[in-house]
Order: sequence, then structure tokens, then C-alpha cells
Amino acid sequence: MAERVLAPCNKALQGELEIPGDKSISHRAVILGSIANGTTKVSNFLDGEDCMRTVKAFELMGVSIEKQDSTVIIEGKGTSALKEPVEPLYFGNSGTTTRLMLGILSGLPFFTTVYGDASLTKRPMDRVIDPLRAMNASIDGRQDGSYLPLSIRGENLQGISYTLPVKSAQVKSAVLLAGLFANGETKVIEDTPTRNHTENMLEAFGAAISSDGRETTITNIQTLTATNVYVPGDISSAAFFLVAAAIVPGSKLTLKNVGLNRTRTGIIDVLLTMGADLQITNQQISGGEEFGDITITYKELSSTVIEGEIIPRLIDEIPILALLATQVEGTTIIRNAEELRVKETDRIAAVADVLTTLGADIEATVDGLVIHGRKTLTGGEIKSYNDHRIAMMGAIASLIAKDDVIIDDDSSIYISYPNFFDHLQDIIL
Ligand code: S3P
Repeated sequence: MAERVLAPCNKALQGELEIPGDKSISHRAVILGSIANGTTKVSNFLDGEDCMRTVKAFELMGVSIEKQDSTVIIEGKGTSALKEPVEPLYFGNSGTTTRLMLGILSGLPFFTTVYGDASLTKRPMDRVIDPLRAMNASIDGRQDGSYLPLSIRGENLQGISYTLPVKSAQVKSAVLLAGLFANGETKVIEDTPTRNHTENMLEAFGAAISSDGRETTITNIQTLTATNVYVPGDISSAAFFLVAAAIVPGSKLTLKNVGLNRTRTGIIDVLLTMGADLQITNQQISGGEEFGDITITYKELSSTVIEGEIIPRLIDEIPILALLATQVEGTTIIRNAEELRVKETDRIAAVADVLTTLGADIEATVDGLVIHGRKTLTGGEIKSYNDHRIAMMGAIASLIAKDDVIIDDDSSIYISYPNFFDHLQDIIL
């Protein structure tokens, strides 16, 4: 437990930040590098707790992974070199490690047991177990395999055609990764596009994959070929500073090399709709992933409605967007975001609780939030719910609060943004 007391700030934010690497892409780089043939160098890897769970899992299966600061070098020898781990794999708080690894472990010829922390143990796994069992995976666990701990015995998998019942990139990715080992073709169909980093990276590693954005097909080609991966900055981490600049008068921030993959940029679209002064420069592309610099200058914004197809494109940014909504004129409505109820914590309930404690006018609905702006935030003692994105939202709220904001425990921030407080300090004038 690490309590953090944040005093009122009352200063404009200025400067440039190099946002740490994308969490989703970092996980995928370790997974594909570990099963490919050859040396994969990953640069700007996110050195957060979640991604290290994925690294540790492959180390326990015999892969040599060398890490120096934000560079990771993986000596891949193909799947046949992976060994049955002698101990259960601990996935901590990481839903991405768990769900993606279930796809991989289902097709490897050995036995594994996986488990996680209290939050992960409550999160639904049947969403991945169901399609994997339909591919002939042998998985068992608590409540018939709906929850961790789970045990997996690798089997010969069969390709399937699967229409996603939940808008989840983790489920899509688990099925596609299992498809790497399956006989025949594996197809995943989604009605609303979710993040496509797995598809981009599989292509970069030479997999036989094709996608039109809604329908993705993969066939087993036995070997992937190592490639170097540059991980762009995580737009979900940048989001905290985009909103910081949008709520603190006089601010101007440039966030460098931030991932701009269209399946992730919902927050930029929302900020522009609300009237933000936001510019994107130095756009580049690497491994199918776009990135660039985002400059945002403070300007008064207006309320909006966030619903439908945009939700998966900003799902992790909803807590911080809710904070933004407390500071704009009018009522902001967020709908169709029921997935928030099964994240690291129930983020609909957690956001409503934290912002209410800080003096906001906010109501939780079944699938979203209704936020009435503009309210002066008071400060107060808030719970992080052991959720990194809730803790960081609380910290950004302190920039505009009238009194101290006291976060009960900020240690979860190491999950996705280890140097968050250094960055916060760097931009306070
Ligand atoms: C992720 C997908 C999303 C997201 C999570 C990371 C991924 O989860 O919330 O932080 O890397 O695939 P769902 O697939 O459950 O929507």
C-alpha cells in the first residue's frame, strides 16, 4: 500500500513528454518474438508490471529474454523449443497476458496452470474458453473454466469461424493466436472493429493472415520469422496528459511518438468533437502501426455523447474522459460501455464513486455514465480500487482540485505507467 497525497496545483502545464510504450503492443511483441524463429529486438518496450508477466511466462517456458531499459531482445527458437513450465504461471493483474496466452497454451504440447491476483481471479474467462474449446482446446478451471485458476493441456486444434459475442480484442487475439496452431483456416468476425495490433504484428512476423477490418482469417504456417519491433507510445497513457492539458487553463503539452492506430484514437476524435485545440505532427509508421506527436493547448470545451462504434476505440480512456466531462459546460453521456464493468475493477462504479467524492455531479448507468458539468472539484480521500487507470485519473483530478487529493494506494500505476509521477512533475511549471 502506498498512499499518495497530492496538493492543489493551480499552475499551467507546459512541456514535452515521451510517453512510455504501448501496453498492448509490448505484450504482443514478447508473445510473437518468443514463438518465432530468430532474434527479435523490441525497442521502447513498456517496462510495466503487466508486460513483465508475459516476459516471465516465456522465460519459464525456456525462452531467453534479455532486457536493458526499454529494449528487449528475445531469442526465439520456434514453438517446438518451448518447454513445459515446472511451476504455475502467475499473470498478476494482466487480463491481456491471460487471454492471449490461453490462445497460445491451448496449442502447445504440454500442461500449464495459470493464476492471477484478486482482480484477475474475478474477471470472466469463459469469453475465451468457449471459442478455444470449440477449437478442441482442453481447458479446465474454476466454475467450469469461467475463472482463474485454469489448467490447460495442449491439444491438436481445429480452425473455426467465430463471430465475437463481446467487443473484445483480447478474445479476437486469443482465437487468432490459437489459429496459428490449428488445422485449416481460423476466421474471426467482429461487428464493431476492436484494436488490431495482433493482426498487424502477425503480418509483420510473416503469418498467413488477411483482414478487411471486420473479418480476419489466419492459417497455420508452422513458423513465424523474427522481426524487430518499435513500440509507439501508449495513447491510453497519453490520454491522462491530453486531458490534463484540456482542463488546466494556460496549458500546452506535446506528447511525442504516440501510437495513432485508428482502432485506438477514439479519444482524439472525442476531444476534437468537444472543440479541443489539438495538432498531430511527425506522423510515421512502423510494423503497420502509425504514430506521431500530439500537441494540445488548453481551450474551453463543450459536452458530448460517447456511444456506439467509438466505444472500443477509447474503452480504456473512459475514466479520464469522465474527469474531463466534469470540467466542460453541459451534460456528457457515455453509453454502450458495459465492458467497463469487467475491467481491472468495475470502472463504471469506481469512476462514479471517485468523482462523486471529489465533488462532481455524476451518475452511473448500467452501461455508462452521465456527467453534468461544470463542477469545481473539492479534493478528498479517494480509493484507487487497485486499478491503475482509476489511480491516474485521481492524480490528474488533483491538478484542478481545491484541496488535497489523497489516493489510498497508487502502487497499481506500475502496471502501465511506472514513471507517471515523474512525468507529472516535469510538466508543472
Ligand atoms: C486489450 C484489449 C482491451 C483493453 C485492454 C487491452 C488488448 O480489452 O481494455 O486494456 O491488449 O487486447 P478487451 O479485449 O477485454 O476489450
